[in-house]
Amino acid sequence: MSDDNTANSDGDEDGGLEARLAEGESYEPPQSFVEQANVNDPAIYDEFEENWPGCWERAADLVSWSQEYDTVLEADDAPFYRWFTGGELNASYNCLDRHVEDGRKNQAAIKWEGELGETRTYTYGDLLNEVEAFAAGLRDLGVEEDDVVTLYMPMIPELPIAMLACARLGAPHSVVFGGFSADALATRMNAADSEYLVTCDGYYRRGDALNHKEKADKGLRGVDHDVQTVVVDRLGDELQHFLGAMAHDYDELVAAHEGESVEPVARDAEDMLFLMYTSGTTGQPKGVKHTTGGYLSYAAWTSHAVLDIKPEDTYWCAADIGWITGHSYIVYGPLALGTTTVMYEGTPDYPEKDRLWELIEKNRVDIFYTAPTAIRAFMKWGKQYPEGHDLSSLRLLGTVGEPINPRAWQWYYDTIGGGECPVVDTWWQTETGGMMITTLPGIGEMKPGAAGPPLPGVDARIVDAAGNDVDPGNAGYLTVQKPWPGMLRTLYNNDDRFLNEYWREYSDEDADDWVYFPEDGAKVDEDGYITILGRVDDVINVSGHRLGTMEIESAIVGVEGVAEAAVVGGDHDVKGKAVYAYVILEDGQEPTDGMYDRIISGVEDGIGPIARPEDVIFTPELPKTRSGKIMRRLLEDIASGNELGNTSTLRNPEIVDEIAEQVKESN
Ligand code: PRX
Repeated sequence: MSDDNTANSDGDEDGGLEARLAEGESYEPPQSFVEQANVNDPAIYDEFEENWPGCWERAADLVSWSQEYDTVLEADDAPFYRWFTGGELNASYNCLDRHVEDGRKNQAAIKWEGELGETRTYTYGDLLNEVEAFAAGLRDLGVEEDDVVTLYMPMIPELPIAMLACARLGAPHSVVFGGFSADALATRMNAADSEYLVTCDGYYRRGDALNHKEKADKGLRGVDHDVQTVVVDRLGDELQHFLGAMAHDYDELVAAHEGESVEPVARDAEDMLFLMYTSGTTGQPKGVKHTTGGYLSYAAWTSHAVLDIKPEDTYWCAADIGWITGHSYIVYGPLALGTTTVMYEGTPDYPEKDRLWELIEKNRVDIFYTAPTAIRAFMKWGKQYPEGHDLSSLRLLGTVGEPINPRAWQWYYDTIGGGECPVVDTWWQTETGGMMITTLPGIGEMKPGAAGPPLPGVDARIVDAAGNDVDPGNAGYLTVQKPWPGMLRTLYNNDDRFLNEYWREYSDEDADDWVYFPEDGAKVDEDGYITILGRVDDVINVSGHRLGTMEIESAIVGVEGVAEAAVVGGDHDVKGKAVYAYVILEDGQEPTDGMYDRIISGVEDGIGPIARPEDVIFTPELPKTRSGKIMRRLLEDIASGNELGNTSTLRNPEIVDEIAEQVKESN
């Protein structure tokens, strides 16, 4: 039986399941889970509401402060809110030293699973030693408090080690996803004025050694200032690399500083912990700034309340640390709580499609957190893969990154959780720092497809274009009407863009009433459960990764011979959305296979393989309104194979059929 047949039989057996679930089937969390949950008293919602913002002390109490804060929230300069002011702390101390001081030096902090089957376990004691040695090494290279250090690495232990070493020195890190291109690295290093880079020689993908250093070197050639580089040797003899004059070998640096202790630098609560670049409406990525006190408290609090993490757990978030999910829920949240966090280098289907289930069984994972796109791929591969493994150690499952369709939710709940693990569908963003909308697994019933109510203390509401609450069941715009500790503080070096992107849409500035707009559509039901409907800006969510259409378009128009491009997201059964590029060539250029390939390479070089178009559609014109605006909605419908709506308002309606015909043929 083929994989696809298996997937169909999963779905068809339950004829109409998606529809039934969409009508509101719901599940109570199992009693056994509720009894042991970190948070299981429903009164928490009222308590947080009545004692707002003082309620957030609950989050701050989960971290250790070297200097107690004076005030929970200062809003005099809103929306530039300040949290836990007067407080001082160090994130690396919170993630390492305090657990060692608690007598847990021998507990596993990170269990790393390599692509080729190698494993490495770092106890809290080991991790502290290596973080201190590397911090000493970085300091030796000149890294000082507030210097931005760029980390460009795949999922190897040296990545969280470098993050924590930076945090120890008070040097904000800016992690650039390892799958991003050289150009993307250069753009981010220039934007952050970052003079330090930690990278590696290469890594394995599906058994093949990939040269990462080459990409990093190419990126460095696009950086407009001098950079000191540290290179981790992941591949050993497999890949010889040469260190240039400004480059240092990670192992040598750590060996030279072995045994040194580096005092954690006391950081003000509002000092920057890290920068994370993410995609927005324009071509320039946005440098989201997160702080030490608010972010760390919020990551720890949500890991405690939503992921139900306890120190004795083995917890696995199968994301990449190059994205915010990995920052908050592989590194900072779990390590702040002193648990064992699993890190996996490879892909879910190498060497076999049961790799993740094998790792859950082997490590006796208690809590597993992944993205809907992965779940849809698992469904497609078939339940024989998880069924071949003992997954009974699991207690809780989570998803993040994009809407989960009810059928995928149900599959996850039944096939992976055996009907005994609550599933938390967590809505949040790079900007929010941590989870915002989800059920609390020890309290709330679950409704497949709906993320759930806002977390206690989070004031999320669905409004219409005028900012008024919409009635339950109707689609509107998601807004957050009160600040929260994990929120971004600004966009790096760009307060204006921060105000314009997130606050100008729904705030009443004269009344000093600030409303955060995440640029998602949503609806709410009678019980206050929120269903996220997707982005309402020019951002496409591909496999849970955020890509700006403008960024992709500018990579395409950079290809010689291309005159114009429009990029949209079309429905995709595994990725959620996929990238479709409509391209107009310059006069005299032909839509050849060579041109097609050059466009694909243009995107891969400009951004990275994650942004690779599913299809490139050559067209003589784009459908435009009379005022000259490209009708993106129509292009989305064509790519998704949807019924096409009214085209009478177009200046050139005839082009729509022509393009649709072409897309049908190429399918
Ligand atoms: O559209 C929402 C979607 O992902 C966007 C945020 O992307 P990013 O900043 O890359 O962070 C992803 C990981 C936190 C949101 O604006 N999104 C995230 N989680 C969900 C979701 N959409 C629906 N349901 C979710 N649970």
